[in-house]
Amino acid sequence: MVPLLVVAVFLLQGALFQPPQAAAFKIFTSDGSLTHHQITEAAFLRKMAEVCRNVAIARGKDFTLPINNKLTPTAVQRACSNSYSTLLQLATFNLAVLQTSLSNAAVDKKVSSTAHHFDNEDFKNGRDLITLGVAAVKVSIKKGNYLSARISLGAVCHTLQDFYSHSNWVELGSTAPFSTLIKPERPLENLASPSTKTCKSCVGDNCTDNILTEVLQQKLLTSGYFKFILPIKPAGKCSHGGTFDGSSYKEPTGGINKDDISSNHGFLHLRAAEMAINATMELLEDIQLAIGDQAFLKLMGLSQTSVLVFVLDTTSTLSYYIAEAKKVFLSIIDSRRGTSEEPSEYILVPFSDQDFGPLIRTGDADKFKEQINSLSTSDSSNPGLCLSGLLLTLTRAPPSSDIFVFTDSSAKDIELKIAVVAMMQITQSKVSFLLSNSISTRSQQNVSLSRSLSQSDIQFYRDLAHVSGGQTIEVTNSTLSQATTVITDVITTDLVTVLQVERISSKAENFSFVLDPTLSNVTVYITGDSPVFNLYSPTGVSQSGSVADGPLGSIQTIGNLKRVKLNSDNQTGEWKISIDTTSSYSLKVIGQSSVDVLFYFVEIVEGGHGDSWGQSFTRPFIGRNATFYVSVTGRDSVTVTDVLLVEASGSGAVNGTIKSVGATDFLVNIDRIPDWAFVVQLKGLLNDSSLVSQFQRQSPVQHKGSRITVTAQSQNITQPGVPMSVNFTVATNTTDGNYTIRARTDQGFSMSFPSSLTLGPGGSAQGSVTLTAPSDTESGTDVTLTIEAEAPGSTDLNYITLRFTVSTANTIFSGCYLLSMCLSFVCFFICHFVCLGLVFVAKL
Ligand SMILES: *[C@@H]1O[C@H](CO)[C@@H](O)[C@H](O)[C@H]1NC(C)=O
Ligand SMILES: *[C@@H]1O[C@H](CO)[C@@H](O)[C@H](O)[C@H]1NC(C)=O
Ligand SMILES: *[C@@H]1O[C@H](CO)[C@@H](O)[C@H](O)[C@H]1NC(C)=O
Ligand SMILES: *[C@@H]1O[C@H](CO)[C@@H](O)[C@H](O)[C@H]1NC(C)=O
Ligand SMILES: *[C@@H]1O[C@H](CO)[C@@H](O)[C@H](O)[C@H]1NC(C)=O
Ligand SMILES: *[C@@H]1O[C@H](CO)[C@@H](O)[C@H](O)[C@H]1NC(C)=O
Ligand SMILES: *[C@@H]1O[C@H](CO)[C@@H](O)[C@H](O)[C@H]1NC(C)=O
Ligand SMILES: *[C@@H]1O[C@H](CO)[C@@H](O)[C@H](O)[C@H]1NC(C)=O
Ligand SMILES: *[C@@H]1O[C@H](CO)[C@@H](O)[C@H](O)[C@H]1NC(C)=O
Ligand SMILES: *[C@@H]1O[C@H](CO)[C@@H](O)[C@H](O)[C@H]1NC(C)=O
Ligand SMILES: *[C@@H]1O[C@H](CO)[C@@H](O)[C@H](O)[C@H]1NC(C)=O
Ligand SMILES: *[C@@H]1O[C@H](CO)[C@@H](O)[C@H](O)[C@H]1NC(C)=O
Repeated sequence: MVPLLVVAVFLLQGALFQPPQAAAFKIFTSDGSLTHHQITEAAFLRKMAEVCRNVAIARGKDFTLPINNKLTPTAVQRACSNSYSTLLQLATFNLAVLQTSLSNAAVDKKVSSTAHHFDNEDFKNGRDLITLGVAAVKVSIKKGNYLSARISLGAVCHTLQDFYSHSNWVELGSTAPFSTLIKPERPLENLASPSTKTCKSCVGDNCTDNILTEVLQQKLLTSGYFKFILPIKPAGKCSHGGTFDGSSYKEPTGGINKDDISSNHGFLHLRAAEMAINATMELLEDIQLAIGDQAFLKLMGLSQTSVLVFVLDTTSTLSYYIAEAKKVFLSIIDSRRGTSEEPSEYILVPFSDQDFGPLIRTGDADKFKEQINSLSTSDSSNPGLCLSGLLLTLTRAPPSSDIFVFTDSSAKDIELKIAVVAMMQITQSKVSFLLSNSISTRSQQNVSLSRSLSQSDIQFYRDLAHVSGGQTIEVTNSTLSQATTVITDVITTDLVTVLQVERISSKAENFSFVLDPTLSNVTVYITGDSPVFNLYSPTGVSQSGSVADGPLGSIQTIGNLKRVKLNSDNQTGEWKISIDTTSSYSLKVIGQSSVDVLFYFVEIVEGGHGDSWGQSFTRPFIGRNATFYVSVTGRDSVTVTDVLLVEASGSGAVNGTIKSVGATDFLVNIDRIPDWAFVVQLKGLLNDSSLVSQFQRQSPVQHKGSRITVTAQSQNITQPGVPMSVNFTVATNTTDGNYTIRARTDQGFSMSFPSSLTLGPGGSAQGSVTLTAPSDTESGTDVTLTIEAEAPGSTDLNYITLRFTVSTANTIFSGCYLLSMCLSFVCFFICHFVCLGLVFVAKL
């Protein structure tokens, strides 16, 4: 039990000790075994290639790429771009695969659930999980929530893929996937009965022939039993196998899993993995047929362009500002129409001092313009519900969206700041603020009348923008139209961040950054009150910030922002910039490139039976170690030399230890999470034929650790109209006292929870959130619950986000199944009859 290594898992699971599980296809492999991530990616790539081939054929174009397991993301992108005659975005595709994989891997934390892994012959519940998950994927897509769809899809993929590793489907000589698992109308037949003996003991370590001949002859389906440490299992049954599977030490000994090449049935690993790829493709096909090609492409992340999101304050003392903002938005929409950068979707969320929402979402530019034009505006001198509107946007807009907020007032609902920050970090969406502020700062008239923005209000919005990697632009009525340039910069495709720093104190400082040959349209932004700066190119040419058109680029001033558009010659290499200002400022270098980096904090559970990992939905603990996953897009292989956590508004840095888990994927260990907010910076080498060049990228989104832990059970199903309780624990080793608790769902479900919990010094406290999905909630709806705990005096905060699926059918089925296990055979039929009746009634 000693080798058990539990990293940060207690952050999520509420337990310091986590036994290893019957994990499945692995995460780390060095012996050519395939991982869940590889299986999922292979299926995604093949299915994508198929869709693109069909498009190519329909459009009379060539499609020469052979569709096999050797596809790479760049090859598929190239071939697909040819089908669509425009370059498809690779970063979002990788993001889609990664999001799916991260939730796929998270399933391995469901230790005790046999159904999630098809262990212990739990076929019925395993299939029900798949059915439920597929329904959730389809409902999420219908609602346009592709992140939820991918998370549900990842969980389904895990269970589906595990079937091929843990059951004897492959040993039965099957030549195609077991389609019944994704077709709930088909009966599950030929299951080995609970009393059927299925295995004999292995000969030493040799398990080649341990499944009984009669099982194979009768084509009976079985799976391995798994019991942590304890030698317990029903008589004559196969085991999963492996060091921690106690059941495999009991007669019949050994196991049948094919998790990797060295497993008991490792000689069938590659076949099981290939079958799992084919099964995943079949699942993707089922989803594609149900949702159509366009939605499917979006699910795969290969949407051609970005989503344009506006959050608009409709109350103002200065209604001409709103009219002007509307004009700006309309001109942006028009300038993109018919171009390759036309947004695939538009989202608008209005808010006022009284109300916010609804979220308006459409793919039709004309409809969207109508919506903007028809927004009624009113006069008010009260602060608006800006953060409520923004939170609604963040929870519903696709991840990695670029969101623009237009307002001229302070936020009335500042208590939502932390929730907004959490959602920014989870969705990695960028939020930029357009603040119109002429009255208070530029003409000192009637301040009492205007909803003027004080310096601290502006700082409040700046902080939010910085956290997400967005901009804050202060505009006047006359400069508002120039903001168009900045919005246009931000919504270009394949935008990457090279460097972003923020300084709260005024101090002269020099910065350097590396531009690589894949970058184009590089823009440098400096925000602050009249900053003095000098730019130096790799060849030693310099240009002062006061020179509008110089050898290095053209400089535009928009309100408090300087925008430097670099000329495209001699860019590659190390640049320098020196900045001197009298106030706080920020510096940002962005450009277009297919080479981007995705960062996710993950939890690693290392166990005797393989390491598993999943995305972490809580802040890491300050002073302890943490791990994150880094995926570089746009190349089939890449060298990463440095991964640093860089202090967001200072010069501190923490170096990470890099471990490669694939040609472009890395796990990075951080020894100690710092107590400051940080961004992740990556440096590496690109090998393009003979040319090796340095590159650097940075996470636009800031992260922060916490000294509080919030833990709760991680995932579940809830029924409409039935209250559900979620127990959670708040713990800290520092400040004691009264911790403020907040909870909310993205669906606005009614909830009850304690408003505060009292923690002793170094102590913990438990609470419970009870939520009820309205009885008319559509079955398959995904719900995100966020529980936050804030230390006394707002000195620290942590949160946890949990996901649930609202389901009418499955809970009845599962309950019925459990009940039927206890009852006799006759009761089984009665039970099912009653259940089907209930389902029937529920559907009416
Ligand atoms: C394992 O047993 C099978 C037959 O049961 C035999 O063909 C095979 O050679 C054995 N493998 C090893 C490595 O001993
Ligand atoms: C998976 O599908 C491919 C293409 O249909 C097929 O050639 C291959 O044999 C299948 N693999 C397995 C293990 O069934
Ligand atoms: C400010 O506005 C208020 C309310 O409209 C008005 O009564 C007052 O005269 C104005 N003051 C000035 C200095 O314009
Ligand atoms: C605001 O700016 C627009 C265009 O720049 C102009 O037409 C309008 O008159 C301005 N309104 C005010 C009140 O200054
Ligand atoms: C970006 O750069 C490319 C080539 O370097 C150029 O064709 C394109 O017009 C630029 N786009 C913008 C928005 O400046
Ligand atoms: C670009 O490089 C050439 C040759 O090295 C040099 O003459 C020229 O001044 C450089 N231009 C800039 C803007 O750095
Ligand atoms: C809290 O835990 C961290 C990390 O384990 C440790 O560095 C720190 O000293 C602890 N603080 C207290 C007050 O125990
Ligand atoms: C992380 O910290 C734990 C103790 O807090 C330690 O047991 C473990 O070895 C560390 N992991 C790494 C990868 O450094
Ligand atoms: C980070 O660590 C690597 C490997 O130990 C080292 O090469 C690199 O110089 C370090 N970077 C910084 C900024 O300390
Ligand atoms: C849901 O929660 C219940 C207890 O709250 C637990 O018994 C069950 O295993 C959970 N189901 C899943 C799918 O996590
Ligand atoms: C939550 O905690 C309460 C009291 O500690 C306990 O009675 C209840 O069973 C718990 N519920 C779940 C779902 O764990
Ligand atoms: C904790 O704070 C809440 C709200 O601020 C207050 O209602 C409650 O009485 C406080 N509890 C304790 C034990 O101080």
